[in-house]
Amino acid sequence: MADVVARCRELAAITEEEGRTTRWFGGDAMARANELAGRWMAEAGMAVRVDAALNLVGSLPGSDPDAGTLLLGSHLDTVRDAGAFDGPLGVIAAIECVERLRAREVTLPFGVDVLGFSDEEGLRFGTAYLGSRAVAGTLDEETRALVGGAPDAASRRGERLLGYVELHIEQGPVLEERNVPVGVVASIAGATRAEVAFTGRAGHAGTVPMELRRDAAVALAEFVLAVERTARAAPGLVATVGQLAAEPGAPNVIPGRAACSLDVRHAEDAARAQAVVALSERAAAIASERGVELAWQERMATPATPMDPELTELLATAVAEQGLADVRLASGAGHDAVALSALTGTAMLFVRCAGGISHHPDESVDDADVAVAIDVLERFMRLLAGGR
Ligand code: HGY
Ligand code: MN
Ligand code: MN
Repeated sequence: MADVVARCRELAAITEEEGRTTRWFGGDAMARANELAGRWMAEAGMAVRVDAALNLVGSLPGSDPDAGTLLLGSHLDTVRDAGAFDGPLGVIAAIECVERLRAREVTLPFGVDVLGFSDEEGLRFGTAYLGSRAVAGTLDEETRALVGGAPDAASRRGERLLGYVELHIEQGPVLEERNVPVGVVASIAGATRAEVAFTGRAGHAGTVPMELRRDAAVALAEFVLAVERTARAAPGLVATVGQLAAEPGAPNVIPGRAACSLDVRHAEDAARAQAVVALSERAAAIASERGVELAWQERMATPATPMDPELTELLATAVAEQGLADVRLASGAGHDAVALSALTGTAMLFVRCAGGISHHPDESVDDADVAVAIDVLERFMRLLAGGR
């Protein structure tokens, strides 16, 4: 049994940025992460390749070539200054599951592919799910142009797929509060990402009187506070400005341009859409009050995504057969399962993580909880094969 937690920490040392874990699509660190995880896949008896969208793919054939393929996995890219488990845990645990079945000389009728997706977080281009959208065959023109090459060749459309099952840290406090190691995901919140920019007029910090200024950074600051106010006022809505920049970016120059990212999420699509409209109207009002220009560019919008009922009930059966409580969760975080839902049925198993901390180097999981999750995943695969 490989030490899954140790392997995740070994992967976390592979980074674009000294002293913190950061891996973005197409970067050298992703190539090195694919190499290391690819080695573990090969040791587990899988044929290993990198597809046209730079996803890592480990394949184990089943005994019956007509039985189709089960997709497992998660993503290997990270946010900036990430933890070790958001993404990699799902890939490494799936490899371990394949390894254990092989060690127990269990041959499943269906094939098993373990996928290490190349761009779930969207750090490089600001959009998400590039690798999984390529596999689902749903890449849009803009993203295709960003990536170059022929990423559509990664599409699995038309294949006989039994589903996609992703093991992932919860990134929230529920499992810890309920004192259970794992939970089954019912649905994933919808999300909208946009780029918002205000353009005023740069000028000398010492000579332009305050009443004559068209300061883009102050307009942006007012907008950021409006984002927080809007989210606090709407139950179940979360909204975040994670990136901000003022140009030209000198201490003695009034910012002529100021831009930020916007991430808005809700379990209900109508509530999210309403919030996005309200925020874009507020941004326009701020721009006109301050005599600056507004540029609002929506970069991505993914709908609230329910998991596949059949696969989810089978996963819940595997949990129950391990003698565990059946806890169902909604996911506020997005996952590659959102993109894969366009291709095949999807199900997710959450693993308890300390304090619900994620997108932070303090992310951590318990070895014992990971072992339970792998037991559940193995039992799920046996149930899917009709065995016990
Ligand atoms: O942003 C998210 O929810 C995920 O981590 N990509
Ligand atoms: Mn993440
Ligand atoms: Mn993730």
